[in-house]
Amino acid sequence: MDLKTAIRAIPDHPKPGIVYRDITPLMADGEAFRRTVEGLASAFKAHRIDKVAGIEARGFVFGAALATALGAGFVPVRKRGKLPHDTISRSYSLEYGEDVLELHRDAVAPGERVLLIDDLIATGGTAVAAAELLAELGARPVACAFVIELEGLGGREALAGLTDEVFSLMQFGDD
Ligand code: PRP
Ligand code: MG
Repeated sequence: MDLKTAIRAIPDHPKPGIVYRDITPLMADGEAFRRTVEGLASAFKAHRIDKVAGIEARGFVFGAALATALGAGFVPVRKRGKLPHDTISRSYSLEYGEDVLELHRDAVAPGERVLLIDDLIATGGTAVAAAELLAELGARPVACAFVIELEGLGGREALAGLTDEVFSLMQFGDD
């Protein structure tokens, strides 16, 4: 089974000309979901990861499963106003306006080996903000992982310098 067949393409969503890559069929299929998590885990089992940092919201789904597969802890990178304790924050650009990601100041310790994960990278704005938060706490991510990479939007390039490795399980071009 090609895992890419479990990703549903929705043409012209959320606006004309955009092909939305919908991960809900992959998550709903037990075998596809398991193989996705196993694929991510096998890529990082030798990295001695202490903590997996997942980005709200869809990065939580894969990040939590990956953390248990790696025997690592899980820390949430959340959207504005959701974390209750002492936080640091970074704003990032969206197509219209900007949003804010936050991280608990005690979520990671300096020098910990952190893997940053999200479901998808497009422009990289979201992942860059999350990687900068981790770096601010002295825990620059050793790698950044994505289930889906939308190629040609500059995401991988935007992360260069913020991590040693950018990994994606599957890639989609403009087709
Ligand atoms: C989506 C996706 C990534 C981000 C990628 O999240 O899950 O987090 O966009 O885009 P970028 O590389 O251009 O920054 P979104 O904020 O739409 O919502 P979510 O809360 O459903 O994950
Ligand atoms: Mg997201």
